[in-house]
Amino acid sequence: MQKSLIDPFGRKIEYVRVSVTDKCNYRCDYCMPEQGVHPEGRHTEYLSYDELARIIKAFVNLGVAKIRLTGGEPLVRKNLDSFVEKIQPFEGLEDISLSTNAHHLAREALALKKAGVSRVNVSIDSLKPKRFNLITRGGDLTKVLAGVDKALEVGLTPVKFNMVVMKGTNDDEIEAMVDYGLAKGVEVRFIETMPIGAAGVSMMDQHYSAAKILKRIKQHVGTDLIPSTGKTHDGPSKNFTIAGTNTRIGVISAVSQHFCESCNRVRLTAKGVLALCLGQEDSVDLRTPLRAGISDEALETLIKKAILKKPERHFFTENVHNIEFRQMVELGG
Ligand code: GTP
Ligand code: 5AD
Ligand code: SF4
Repeated sequence: MQKSLIDPFGRKIEYVRVSVTDKCNYRCDYCMPEQGVHPEGRHTEYLSYDELARIIKAFVNLGVAKIRLTGGEPLVRKNLDSFVEKIQPFEGLEDISLSTNAHHLAREALALKKAGVSRVNVSIDSLKPKRFNLITRGGDLTKVLAGVDKALEVGLTPVKFNMVVMKGTNDDEIEAMVDYGLAKGVEVRFIETMPIGAAGVSMMDQHYSAAKILKRIKQHVGTDLIPSTGKTHDGPSKNFTIAGTNTRIGVISAVSQHFCESCNRVRLTAKGVLALCLGQEDSVDLRTPLRAGISDEALETLIKKAILKKPERHFFTENVHNIEFRQMVELGG
């Protein structure tokens, strides 16, 4: 019988976001404190590629078909392509994707494509070089856009952009992002800022709702936005095709309209902690049993038990003043 992972609320877990490092070469102010995180993080605390692959194999045996590699910034970990080569042959694994800031993407795109990555999502909050540099505290937009071009060229497609929309910081660029998407065939997703990460609840002053974003886009393109039907990568993004084009846009309304009832994912941190929800603290350590020599079968049982701890939903709006400081950079978004 085909195995599967079902949580207590009947949701099927088919997607694991795997953080390969909690380090990042950027310092986006909503995500990272300026000095970075865990300067003390010792090498041995992080799972090796073999250890990560073992856990992924167990998940795939349990019916997970999608793996997304995240960070921190996944491309700051060396030889990521060799890791992809390790997991790519797992039977039942249909989609290996990457969420990246694209700083190193021009250099890595071809090797990643050859190794088995199918597509990339790029975090990009501004198309103005100076502003981009400020938001990321040092980022280089030219390098990022070169990375995007390379990804398109080698077929790491669809390439999607993730723009975190922040009132008063970059909300004047919604239209410019749509135009970029139309010109390049990139799918831009506009994200409501969530009260997690370095900025925590203070970010909520900059909240800009998905409804307002959609209204502006509609006015700008002067045509209909046709809601996408069917599965379009099962994610939290609500997608639309701009009428008369093949270009899609999306909104991720984690705050104004949560989508937890259809959540299909869990997260694995680079230190081997299984995090069951982006907005809650529930988690299970897999590193200790792994290093104590757990068998493959027992590892699968442990994962099945862990899934029973998945909470029903986040409480971003109700609990906004009680949310503990959570390191977004450890969870990979
Ligand atoms: P696709 O498979 O291409 O749809 O990707 P994705 O949207 O699953 O992944 P990506 O890394 O591009 O994430 C886009 C945004 O959605 C980020 O801001 C994530 O933090 C957010 N996001 C992803 N998963 C969840 C989730 O389970 N809950 C919430 N609240 N936000 C999420
Ligand atoms: N709110 C919304 N999105 C966030 N990301 C990081 N921190 C936040 C936050 N507080 C996004 C990044 C990236 C994705 C993986 O998570 O911009 O696109
Ligand atoms: Fe790095 Fe992404 Fe966090 Fe920015 S949002 S600091 S690029 S991990």
